Amino acid sequence: MNYFKLFLFLLVTLISCKTEEKQKQVSDSKITKPNFIIAFGSCNNQNLPNTLWKEILKNNPDVWIWGGDVIYADTENMDYLKQNYSVQKNNNDYLNFSKNIDVLATWDDHDYGMNDGGSEYPKKVASQQLFLDFFNIPKNDKRRKQEGVYFSKDFTVTNKTIKIILLDTRYFRSALTPDTKTKKRYKPNKYGEGTMLGETQWNWLKSQLENSKASYTIIVSSIQFLSSQHGFESWGNMPHEVAKLENLIKETNSKNVIILSGDRHIAEFSKKNIDGLNYPLIDFTSSGLTHSYTNYSGELNKYRVGNVVSKKNFGILKFNLKTNTVIMEIRGENNKLYETLTQNYK
Ligand SMILES: [Fe+2]
Repeated sequence: MNYFKLFLFLLVTLISCKTEEKQKQVSDSKITKPNFIIAFGSCNNQNLPNTLWKEILKNNPDVWIWGGDVIYADTENMDYLKQNYSVQKNNNDYLNFSKNIDVLATWDDHDYGMNDGGSEYPKKVASQQLFLDFFNIPKNDKRRKQEGVYFSKDFTVTNKTIKIILLDTRYFRSALTPDTKTKKRYKPNKYGEGTMLGETQWNWLKSQLENSKASYTIIVSSIQFLSSQHGFESWGNMPHEVAKLENLIKETNSKNVIILSGDRHIAEFSKKNIDGLNYPLIDFTSSGLTHSYTNYSGELNKYRVGNVVSKKNFGILKFNLKTNTVIMEIRGENNKLYETLTQNYK
């Protein structure tokens, strides 16, 4: 081939590649144009710089979901808890963020008031009211009278409903089993022992799922549902409760359930194929907003898809309700995209 022919060949190849790339961009933008956007995150220390609020807004979310640890105030002193909520409430970046967006929330251990705490925490009744005060929940809201902060809200877009269920994995949770033989903090309870949600909340969850016509159900759990080999808190500490939720999702024919979790100061996607469920169950973990597990050096998770993010992060879910596609993104400082997972539902 002489130089002129070689030049022509390269020119033609370059032009055809460009055309393909352009076509791909057009079709991608069609697929990715979302009808509804959820942003979520957890683990926010009120005394550390809140640097991510402006970045989250760049994604134009329709709703912000707190997955727990709204503040850090492990205490039984309710004045101290209240003071720390007011530090967060007066944070200018958070104020600007939260004034124009729908905010939904559950708690985890550090805003509840006790590290790794459960039903034994003696101040849970008073702490619940301070949590609800922080979110300006009206006095006549049913969460003011019920035990626990569990709650649900439906969003209907183009005749399709996205149901968001926020669980309380603290108020009723019975004791975990410390692992005294390995370096892990906990080992699974004996099968059948203990409760993650308590009977009242389990009944409520059942009726939420049974009476739902939602196209998507987002279940927010402060602690991870699928990943459990790390030995910290997770649903895996009560294997029978994992089975119970999976069975409930199947029995109620709940469509397209996605679990959102936090707590771990890392972000990752976990995905499990469950017999009898016609879509994979995804547990999307995002944590923390102000501080992360910077010493992370790896841990097992047989359900993990992609890589663990151990920098500060938040989660984004973009729903295309026409194509039934959900694009999930782990983002962080400067809105940087770290990991993404696209799931096509039926
Ligand atoms: Fe945390």
